[in-house]
Amino acid sequence: MAIDLFSPVNLGAISLKNRMVMAPLTRNRAGEGGVPQAMNVTYYAQRASAGLIITEATPISAMAHGYPALPGIYTDAQVAGWKNVTDAVHAKGGKIVIQLWHVGRISHPSLLPNGVLPVAPSAIKPAGQAFTYQGLVDFVEPRALDASELPGIVADYVHATQCALAAGFDGVEIHAANGYLLDQFLRDGSNKRTDNYGGSIENRMRLLLDVTKAVTAVAGADKVGVRISPVNSFNDMFDSSPQALFDKVAEALSPFGLAYLHAVEGAIHSEGDVAAFDFVALRKLFKGSYIANLGYDKARGNAAIASGNADAVAYGVPFLANPDLVERYKIDAPLNQADANTFYGGTEQGYTDYPTL
Ligand code: PHB
Repeated sequence: MAIDLFSPVNLGAISLKNRMVMAPLTRNRAGEGGVPQAMNVTYYAQRASAGLIITEATPISAMAHGYPALPGIYTDAQVAGWKNVTDAVHAKGGKIVIQLWHVGRISHPSLLPNGVLPVAPSAIKPAGQAFTYQGLVDFVEPRALDASELPGIVADYVHATQCALAAGFDGVEIHAANGYLLDQFLRDGSNKRTDNYGGSIENRMRLLLDVTKAVTAVAGADKVGVRISPVNSFNDMFDSSPQALFDKVAEALSPFGLAYLHAVEGAIHSEGDVAAFDFVALRKLFKGSYIANLGYDKARGNAAIASGNADAVAYGVPFLANPDLVERYKIDAPLNQADANTFYGGTEQGYTDYPTL
């Protein structure tokens, strides 16, 4: 039989019963203190027929927050809350990794400890507005991190990885996409540093590689994935040569022996032209498994897998609205439509009440 979305696959040490991955989706419904609560357990457990669930982006420290009601993965209470999630997913035969997140400049003092400034590679205010508890507020100029502070950020990733393992996750995904901290270091529109973390591609990749080295040392490389978004302009992002940059990122990540590389193959939350980019070339440079994401349906997902252009395909909004997406694709059943009004924040409505077949 030909390999398709419903074929099992091993991504490093993580064995998937099918190749349909639930993409990370910010839902802003964590409990007090960033602790996952009962409705979060229900939501993830409902989607356990995915080959792999990647959790919503999850801050690794108090300074890593940039939106209301995010879960965290750095306190004991958060670990206990996530343990309920991983237990429920595992009880239904699913696999789940947590996406480790530092938002960098995409934050606001009102979301940070003692009202401090967000941190970033360079003091460049992004265009746009932060989502705060007081509503939309213009972004502020972030504080440029001193090189002496970067080991502390790496240590926060290590601590979060230890918390993730204690919470029973099957692995972790390093979020290096979508204009958040690691991506801000990668791309030259947001990184104007003159030390060895800025300038050349090698220098701009350094923080991602430092983090990858440290996280893989704790979790084992075969339980670690990395997510990138080479052409996403969301969060006021730009790079002068995305193909050169991300080809080098793929090459530099190869020797680690990661579980997977995960690419957002387009732009989210943004309008206008998307830079030309050859994702097949990127995928060939990465010597490991590759998860493709963005805009795939069943036919395109099967085609990507049959051609070898992807080992698995991540579906976001389709999984949000269809907890039983795998079953629906299997029998070509109609899909529930997603309600965008309930994507971010709120109650069980638009969260755990999408019907199964
Ligand atoms: C969002 O909140 O819209 C969001 C969060 C994390 C991402 C992308 C989008 O990686």
